[in-house]
Amino acid sequence: MPIILVLLDITPMMGVLDGVLMELQDCALPLLKDVIATDKEDVAFKDLDVAILVGSMPRRDGMERKDLLKANVKIFKCQGAALEKYAKKSVKVIVVGNPANTNCLTASKSAPSIPKENFSCLTRLDHNRAKAQIALKLGVTSDDVKNVIIWGNHSSTQYPDVNHAKVKLQGKEVGVYEALKDDSWLKGEFITTVQQRGAAVIKARKLSSAMSAAKAICDHVRDIWFGTPEGEFVSMGVVSDGNSYGVPDDLLYSFPVTVKDKTWKVVEGLPINDFSREKMDLTAKELAEEKETAFEFLSSA
Ligand code: LMR
Repeated sequence: MPIILVLLDITPMMGVLDGVLMELQDCALPLLKDVIATDKEDVAFKDLDVAILVGSMPRRDGMERKDLLKANVKIFKCQGAALEKYAKKSVKVIVVGNPANTNCLTASKSAPSIPKENFSCLTRLDHNRAKAQIALKLGVTSDDVKNVIIWGNHSSTQYPDVNHAKVKLQGKEVGVYEALKDDSWLKGEFITTVQQRGAAVIKARKLSSAMSAAKAICDHVRDIWFGTPEGEFVSMGVVSDGNSYGVPDDLLYSFPVTVKDKTWKVVEGLPINDFSREKMDLTAKELAEEKETAFEFLSSA
């Protein structure tokens, strides 16, 4: 399906954006019909089918979490308002900029005429990280691992869960716990490695993840648009309706989902053990606190 990419940035960055535009043209991508670079919201958001909100205020040295939230509430309130004003009501909005879950909720609240189910935030990067860690440990490729779950926030409280994940070994699908036979690694180092991976990449690169984040965005958007493969689920931050896995209503929480006809559905009925329950509640608590802080700023912004 041919696409037109519209790139929005602030005015001082227009020169740099032109460089990005040239590189995109030079990729000679078969499906890329056109690229438009702009600093005008009405041009950028007009009749959009898919909006990928990447830009946010990054945390700098000495900054409190609250300061970060305040700056981002302002940004995502504006982006939500622009979506409300210019985009199609069927637009699918994917929020990447951190704190992604709460930024996504802010944008959704600021675009009340766009269905809240059209908004999702990226936890596919964490999902892919979890798949890759399991694959590395077992000496298989990531493609052989499916149905890992990222629950909750795209932060260090997220819970990467492989209780329902399967791996293909010698042509046979087996549960990851059964295949690995290393519960202490799965309940310890595996979880912390995935939770801390973003920070580890920043420490090594002195920059935040870029290539893996871009790949995760492609995976996420492709699944939103074309659906998830039969028998597979993926992780996405979506709005909770209060009926799934004891997660409070109106939290932007990462769940296992399937997608069909451009509509996601939380995978229901997976058994949750006490170990998982505790971790799922912890990340929900952090999200509830972020939401409360963001909403204070939202009402006063
Ligand atoms: C990541 O997970 O790589 C990023 O969200 C980390 C960050 O804070 O930019």
